[in-house]
Parts: sequence; C-alpha cells; structure tokens
Amino acid sequence: MDISQLSVFENRCLINGKWVSSAETLAVSNPLDQSHITDVPLLSEDEIEQAIVDTDIAQKQWKNVAPNERSRILRNWFDLLMQHQDDLATIMTVEQGKPLKEAIGEIAYAASYIEWFSEEAKRSYGDIIPSAASSEILVFKEAIGVCAAITPWNFPAAMITRKVAPALAAGCCIIVKPASETPLTALAIAKLAVQAGIPSGVFNVVTGSSTKIGQIFTAHPLIKKLSFTGSTEIGAKLMAQSAPTVKKLSLELGGNAPVLVFNSAQLDQAVQGVMDTKFRNAGQTCVCANRIYVQSAIYEEFVEKLKVKVEALKLGNGLDVETDIGPLINRKAVKKVEEHIADALDKGASLVVGKAENLEGNWCVPTLVKDVTQDMLCAKEETFGPFAPIFKFETEAEVLAMSNDTEFGLASYVFTQDLNQFIRVARGLEYGMVGINTGLISNAAAPFGGVKSSGIGREGSKYGMDEYLEMKYVCLGNIN
Ligand code: SIN
Repeated sequence: MDISQLSVFENRCLINGKWVSSAETLAVSNPLDQSHITDVPLLSEDEIEQAIVDTDIAQKQWKNVAPNERSRILRNWFDLLMQHQDDLATIMTVEQGKPLKEAIGEIAYAASYIEWFSEEAKRSYGDIIPSAASSEILVFKEAIGVCAAITPWNFPAAMITRKVAPALAAGCCIIVKPASETPLTALAIAKLAVQAGIPSGVFNVVTGSSTKIGQIFTAHPLIKKLSFTGSTEIGAKLMAQSAPTVKKLSLELGGNAPVLVFNSAQLDQAVQGVMDTKFRNAGQTCVCANRIYVQSAIYEEFVEKLKVKVEALKLGNGLDVETDIGPLINRKAVKKVEEHIADALDKGASLVVGKAENLEGNWCVPTLVKDVTQDMLCAKEETFGPFAPIFKFETEAEVLAMSNDTEFGLASYVFTQDLNQFIRVARGLEYGMVGINTGLISNAAAPFGGVKSSGIGREGSKYGMDEYLEMKYVCLGNIN
C-alpha cells in the first residue's frame, strides 16, 4: 500500500502554518515487515527553539479569539477527520501495525475528543464566590499559555487530539512531538487542522530526537504546560526536568491493570470483557488487562471459555480485514512479552494456548497461561503485548490486596453481578478508573487518568479543559 498517494499524506513538520523539511531526516518503517515508508525531519535544536518562539507569538492572538469561534474551528476539524477516516486509518495501520478496523475506530475516538472540546470551548465558566458585604470574589479562567505535548505510538491519533483539542478550546497554542515510530498519522491530522482553519502557529507538529525535544520542551520558559503519555520512567524524567521552570504537567503513564472476575460474574460477559481489554491493539494499551484474577469456583470454566476465544484470534497484516492481531511495534516489544511468558512458565504456570515457538520479525502469538502467582514478572510489570496470565483467588479481600499490590493505578476491571460487591470493590481499588462488567472504558466524556505512578491529571470530560486553564482570583473591594 503506497500511502504517499493519499491526499492527507504529509512527511514534513507543521510550524507556524508552514510545511518544513530539514537537512537531516528520520526513517519511518512499517512494523509488519520493517520496510521503509518515508523520512520525516530530524529538526535541529535551533529549529525547535524557533518553533516555540513562533507558537508564543500565535498565543497572543489565539487566547483572544472568541470561544464560539474556537468552537467553530474545532468542529470543522472534527468533520474533516471523520470525512477522511478511512485514509487516516490506513496511514495509521501502515506505520503502527494495528488492524484497520481498530484504526478506523481510533480515528472516530480521536475525533470524538475534538467534538467534545469544540462544545466545551464555550463553557469555561468562572465563579462569583460569596464574601463580606463590601467586596466580591471573582474567579476568571484563563488560558495557561503555550503548551507542549509528547505523544506515544500506541494511539497515534487519539493521544494527540485528547491533548490538542482541550488546549485549543481553552485558548492555548500547542506544539506536539509525536512518537518517532508514528509521525505520519500526526502530520495527516495536522494537514486537516490547517484545512479546518486553525490559524498559523496555533497547532504545530515537530519531529526529531525524542530526548533532545523533551529537554527543550521541559527547559523552555515560554512553555507553560507539558502533557505527556508514555512510560512512568520517561514521565518521571520529564517531571524532574520541568521542575526548574515550574511547569504545569499532565502525565498519563504506565499501568498494570487487574481484572477481577468473581463467582457471581456472567461468564460470557466476563470472557468477552477480558478479550476486549486484553487484546485491543495487540495488548499495547496502558489500560490493557495485565493480570486476570478469577475466583476459584468458576476458574476452570472461565479458562476453557477464554481459551476458545484466544485460539480464534487471527494474526496478520493489519490491512487484511480478517486480522485481529497485527505485528507489535518492534522486536524489543516482542522480547518483553517473551520474557514474561518464559518467566511465568519457569516459575510454575501452565501454558493453555499460544506461544510454543519463536516467530520472526515483530510477531507475537496471543498466549494464555494459567496458575500464575504474584511473584512472577507479569504480576509486577506492564507486559504491553498479547499475553493473558490467569491467577486464581478465593476471597474478595485477597483479590483486592493482590490487585492493589503495585506501584501503578491507571485502569482496573471487575466482573460481578453482586451490587454490594461492585460498590465495595470499586471503592477498594486504588485506581483512577474502574470498569464494571465491561472491558471498554475509553470515552471522550469521561475523565481518563491514573493515580500513584500512573500519572497526574485527567484527560477528556468536563475536567479535561481545566488542565489548560489557570484560575485568576479577582477581589472587587469597596463596592458600597
Ligand atoms: C493509552 O493506552 O494510553 C490510551 C488508551 C485509551 O485511551 O483507551
């Protein structure tokens, strides 16, 4: 598939309304077969610095654009994404590997953040707070200023719009560094942003060295806020680097999601929920099930039912409509999954279905292992691949303790038909998000984010725009 023929294809950076090439470049390759797709600019430090200065100039205009006008432009952008949904999804599948049906879904998901924040743009209400008779307390909500975002390869579209749409709605300009593995979806989306009427300098996309750009973004005094989605290790580093300039941060970091399947669960619903949360994007999401805890009375039946579903998953080229699981992003990702499987089997877990032999390239066979215990690597680390480890538990207290025994706290899932249990367990889980009787929780209207080492801040929902706003307290005195 030659994606360079698609009208939305672009391999230059968008800086201050201009499409910019660079003397040095970075290769983008297809995870399916490592074939070369195209090259994107490896911008120099001076070019990145200049882009930030240009963004700051645009900021002075954009913050004063009326909210309903910002809303109208965002709505145009939403419409364009949906009009080009198939082409954007094709670019995503070619550079990222996910099945086309999932990529089409991700474009709709990405667009839904733009639609949501096009509406929220008109609703950044301030406050009037009761005070002494002679004064009034007013709270204004104001754009924080120039923002930067660093986004991951696993959701090349949605993680951009989830940050850019609320920033623009709030009156902030933003400069985005997409993952080096998947810059083409970002640049295609930026092309549509220009067509939608987003003014020059308001939304910029730069490509190049992740380390250098991270250092420049975090150290630059003109950047007032940084939003990052990625690993806890890099998030913590960016946080430390941002300290000297006291930047506001949103960090959506690693997860280690538990799924709790109780004896009272509807078994078919729980099996489907686990399939949805475990195998979406070949297991490469921060909210993917990492540990599946099943209560003893239904354990064997659950494993048998899940086995049938896992066996039926089709591995292949994401562009093939039959494909359920595409290649992983790179060989390193495959190695990590293999390490987790080998560790579990070495320590006494049993293989139910899946990985018997190594495959070449970036392929990873969906694998189910049972009798997994808390001392195994997969209980502690995020696997980020199509490996489903099943643990057995007896009591609610025991499974809550095991679920919370991690530094992470992003997503968690519970399957039960017992109302009291669902309330108790939802309260007991130390996670930012809890899915009850569902494996799919992502929604533009919901506050997405984690606790503990899984991050800071929330994206989406009525709270998402606050991340890009500052409160200004105005004291109106002597009014008598
Ligand atoms: C992520 O994996 O970081 C995001 C997943 C989602 O938005 O559903």
